[in-house]
Order: sequence, then C-alpha cells, then structure tokens
Amino acid sequence: MTITNQDELDGLREIGRIVANTMRAMAKAMEPGMTTRELDEIGRGLLDDAGAVSAPQSTYGFPGATCISVNEEIAHGIPGARVIAPGDLVNIDVSASKDGFFADTGATYRVGAVAPRLDRLCRDGRRAMQIGVAQVRSDRPLAGIGKAIGRFASGRGYTLIGNLASHGVGRSLHEYPEEIPTWPTSGDRRRMKKGLVLTVEPFLSVGGTMATGGEDDWTLYSMPPAPVVQYEHTVVATDRGPLVVTQPG
Ligand code: CO
Ligand code: CO
Repeated sequence: MTITNQDELDGLREIGRIVANTMRAMAKAMEPGMTTRELDEIGRGLLDDAGAVSAPQSTYGFPGATCISVNEEIAHGIPGARVIAPGDLVNIDVSASKDGFFADTGATYRVGAVAPRLDRLCRDGRRAMQIGVAQVRSDRPLAGIGKAIGRFASGRGYTLIGNLASHGVGRSLHEYPEEIPTWPTSGDRRRMKKGLVLTVEPFLSVGGTMATGGEDDWTLYSMPPAPVVQYEHTVVATDRGPLVVTQPG
C-alpha cells in the first residue's frame, strides 16, 4: 500500500508493533525440548490477545499461525512435532493483520551457543537487512536495496538466496509492487513512491543461492544445502528515509 494519511500510518504501526512483540516474545519463550508447534501456539495466543489474525493462515491456508524454520529449513517451515535443540538456528516469521492492515517481520535466533561462523552469519544477516532498509526513501530506485545488500554480501564472502524476494505489504500480505529483489539485478526501473510500504528481508547464506521446495507444499530449503538466515522488517518510504513499523513497544 501507499500511506497517504495519519490514520493509515497509525493502523500500520499498530499491526507492526503486534507482530514485532509476538516475534520477540516467541523468541524469549523458546527453549530446547520445546516443539515448534508449542512455540507457534504461544504466537497464536499473542496474536489472538492483540486482536490480530495470522496472515499466512488467512491468506494462503498455511497450517500454522507463524512460520518456524529450523536449520536446513530456511522459510515457510510448518510448526509441528520437531523438537528444538541446543545449537539450532530457528527462524521465526510473524505476519498478521488487524483492522485491514498487514505487517510482516522475521528473524533468525540461536538456541544457546552455536558455531562461531553461525554467530557471524546471524550478525551479518541483521546488518544486511539494515543496509537494505537504509536504501528506503521516496523516489529512490527499488533496485538500490538489492544493490547495497549484494555489495555487502559479496564483500564478506556470503551468498544471497536469489529467488526469495521482499514484497509490497500493508493492505494484504503480498501486494504491489510485488517482488522486490534483495540481490543485485539490472533493468529494474521502479522507484519507491512516497508512502510505499514494503518489506526488506534478505536471506543471507554461506553458499546457498536458491530456495527449493521439499516434500510438503510449504517448507523451503537451501540449494546447495548451506546455513541461511533471514531478518525482515516492514518499512515505509518517506522523504526523510525509512520508517520501520515492525518495532516492539
Ligand atoms: Co515474513
Ligand atoms: Co515477507
């Protein structure tokens, strides 16, 4: 959507705060021995309490309130019987709607201590997202996001998953201007209109370049197999730069 007035911004910020709080509380509650279904139930309860509705569930019939992807699962993992273990990388992605406004946020969390290279991957994954967010501003090229993230990633020897794009959001989960690459592209002449609402969600990896499906209709895996992290905010393009709405509060 494109924000044109204060009421729209307030509505978007409200759902942004709810998804951010939900994700943060789920991460805090996460512990080894818990199943991903139990973790999802916590998320579902928090969304319910806030009067919000899971977006993947209402939009696509996703079999869970939130997407929880562990280790080799990189996105759209279905909450279920999988037991969270020490050393896991767990991506929690929460998107939901309230009063007709949608927001989307995600982050990869470490369960206890992980290998140093995974610590570094998580830290740099968040930086890659922040570098992309910093490119958001009225009248700037959309392709600037992927260009900046690509420069950061290749400069540090990382790869980016090249078929999981960011997207417009706000009045639905995925909307105009549809897919926004978080990797370098050429020939994309689109610009960010003032008030445009979009996600920035690079998938940073040490070797993975594509996401591919597995046996269920949802879960995505890295090709070639490699650790992947994802950090995601919902952002509004303003004349003064990015306004991140998925902030806890
Ligand atoms: Co998301
Ligand atoms: Co998203």
